[in-house]
Amino acid sequence: MKLDHLIVRAPSPTDARALGEIWYDGELESLRESYPGRSTDEWFALPSVAWCEEYWDFHIPTPGVGSRIFVGEHLGRVLGFSHSGPPDEQDDRVGQLHSLYVRPDAWGTGVGTELLASAVDHLTEAGYPSAILWAVQGNLRSRSFYENRGWRADGHFMRARTGLPLVRYSLAL
Ligand SMILES: CC(C)(COP(=O)(O)OP(=O)(O)OC[C@H]1O[C@@H](n2cnc3c(N)ncnc32)[C@H](O)[C@@H]1OP(=O)(O)O)[C@@H](O)C(=O)NCCC(=O)NCCS
Repeated sequence: MKLDHLIVRAPSPTDARALGEIWYDGELESLRESYPGRSTDEWFALPSVAWCEEYWDFHIPTPGVGSRIFVGEHLGRVLGFSHSGPPDEQDDRVGQLHSLYVRPDAWGTGVGTELLASAVDHLTEAGYPSAILWAVQGNLRSRSFYENRGWRADGHFMRARTGLPLVRYSLAL
């Protein structure tokens, strides 16, 4: 069910804990769903919720030059976030969606769509002609989510540090 009164805003330092939890829970739940029966430890790179919180404690005040973080809040509860900006490597002319995570109990409520739209608007306004993102190969939920919003697998693959296979998607802006 779509949520009324969803607010998309910039994060404040006090959001670090919520973003850490959402990142950890979203990653864990999506890996469970994507690779049923497989140990999540095998591919799960994030050591703890505390580590994820510390990451955002640092990155909320310093998201990086040209980067932006968007937070989705509903009735005072943070439900998800997106992070967009310059690419991790290589072609400076491509913007990147670095992350998009929604609390598993809020999946399917339209939060991800709003946070993706804010990130894409940011990259468009920054003047990038196109954008990329890396999706987990087995994560069919997120892959169809992006495909239904115009993103296309562009033939690039890589493995995360843990060995998790990743597929690159592109979008013309
Ligand atoms: C992928 C992810 C970000 C999507 O977020 P979300 O909030 O569930 O996304 P939405 O609710 O906006 O859209 C999801 C689906 O629900 C549907 N939906 C949206 N609002 C709806 C509503 N009111 N009623 C019913 N369905 C709805 C949409 O149609 C969409 O399906 P579609 O792609 O077939 O159109 C989320 O599942 C997530 O965080 N996953 C784990 C982390 C992850 O995989 N991130 C991506 C890393 S690459």
